[in-house]
Amino acid sequence: MVDMKKLAGEKAAEYVKDGMILGLGTGSTAYHMVNAVGELVRKGYHLQAIPTSNATEKQARELGIPLLTIDEVDHIDLDIDGVDEIDPEFNAIKGGGGALYREKVVATLAKEVIWIMDESKLVDHIGAFHLPIEVAKYGSKQAFEKMDAYGWKPVMRERDGKLFVTDNGNYIIDLHLGAGFDIQDVKEKVSGIVGVLEHGLFLNFCKRIIVGKSNGEVMIKENPNPAK
Ligand code: 5RP
Repeated sequence: MVDMKKLAGEKAAEYVKDGMILGLGTGSTAYHMVNAVGELVRKGYHLQAIPTSNATEKQARELGIPLLTIDEVDHIDLDIDGVDEIDPEFNAIKGGGGALYREKVVATLAKEVIWIMDESKLVDHIGAFHLPIEVAKYGSKQAFEKMDAYGWKPVMRERDGKLFVTDNGNYIIDLHLGAGFDIQDVKEKVSGIVGVLEHGLFLNFCKRIIVGKSNGEVMIKENPNPAK
């Protein structure tokens, strides 16, 4: 069977140039890209990288990829990361793995962003996938109630029967908005709720998407007008 995520992850590594500072994404697609970056380091490329989660940091360390902290950089040359859903206007939902805050900090710093995925992530309208919101523990009940009052069908994320805690020590509230929700309206309202650290909307961030397909092909689509 074709491993679509591996196809996309390995293709993305072809955009890595010697000397770059990289943003390393999180998730099962990014996993393959990080392995491919490790292979480049093994071949002698001089790379440095910022991981977007503790899991990616561990993987990168094991592969011998030189790492930097976010405080040590003023720019990132290229960020490569996965997505949960993306529409034809390059509006994406991320954070299925709960790493959205660090992913957004890194993507915002990056000169160029590439999203990698299997073809199931391509949708006409985002929102069938839940929209993750990272919130501070203190006041999370009130933030949840506000989201509920907006009709966003919030659910506190759990793992192994306990509330899920992010690498930053916060909770995740997943919103069930449905495909075709009003993106700008939700973005504005959610950003105004006290206790919200960040949301999983990544609107027009990327320069290109790389999609692994079930027929073994890789589709690359350039964004003619990225916001960055
Ligand atoms: C983690 C993310 C991931 O990039 C997103 O969930 C996609 O994951 P996968 O490649 O495993 O499908 O945003 O917070």
